[in-house]
Amino acid sequence: MSNIKACIFDLDGVIVDTAVYHFKAWKRLADELGINFTEHDNERLKGVSRVRSLEIILELGDVTKTEAEQQELATRKNAWYVEMINRMTPAEILPGAKEFLEACRAAGIKTALGSASKNSDTILAKINMAHLFDAIVDGNHVSKAKPDPEVFLKGAEALGVTPAECVVFEDAIAGVDAAINGGMKVVGIGSPDVLNKADLVVSGLDKMSLEKLDKL
Ligand code: BG6
Ligand code: MG
Repeated sequence: MSNIKACIFDLDGVIVDTAVYHFKAWKRLADELGINFTEHDNERLKGVSRVRSLEIILELGDVTKTEAEQQELATRKNAWYVEMINRMTPAEILPGAKEFLEACRAAGIKTALGSASKNSDTILAKINMAHLFDAIVDGNHVSKAKPDPEVFLKGAEALGVTPAECVVFEDAIAGVDAAINGGMKVVGIGSPDVLNKADLVVSGLDKMSLEKLDKL
C-alpha cells in the first residue's frame, strides 16, 4: 500500500493548455517591440513566472527596459491574456484531468493546485473545476518561482500532509525540479526525454490511474 495522501497539480499544461494563449499574447507584445519570438522560444516560458517570461523575451531581442517599463509591458500582455482566458469553457479541460481528480477524491486522496499563474482563479472558474481542489496555491501566494519548491510546500501544508506523502503532476522541467527540491514524488506530463527526472512520465492525465499512483 502506498503512503500517498495528496496529489498536487500544476495548471497550465496539466489541467488546461493555456500555453497557446500565453504565446499569442507574448507574440503580440514581441511584435510591437520588434522582437522575433517563435513558438520554439515559447517553450522556454513554460512554468516560468510572468516577470521572468518577459525578461526572456527582452533578452531574445537584446532589448533593455527599465523596471517601470517592464511592469507596464507585463501588465499589457496580461490584459490580452485575460481577454482570451475569459472566453475559455470546460471543453478546454485536457483529456482525463477532471476524471483523475474525481477518482483521487473518491479514493480519499486530497488534491491541491500548485501553479505559477496569477490567473488561476479565473481559469478554474471558467472551466468549472475550482470545487475539485482542497487547496489552491498559485502565483499570488508565493515569492519564489519554480524550481523553488515553495508553491508545492505551501500546498502540502494547506492540505495537512508531509512532502513525502505528496505526488506532484507537472509538464515543465522547472516544475519537476521544484517537486524534487521539495522532497515530493513527481509524475511528468509530456515526453520522457524532456521530463527525465520524474518518477513516471505519462502523455496526459488520461493515461494516469490510481493503480499507477499506488506503485510510485
Ligand atoms: C505558468 C505558465 O503556469 O504560469 C507560464 O506555465 C506563465 O507560462 C506563468 O508565465 C505565469 O502566469 P500568469 O497567468 O500569472 O501570467
Ligand atoms: Mg505547466
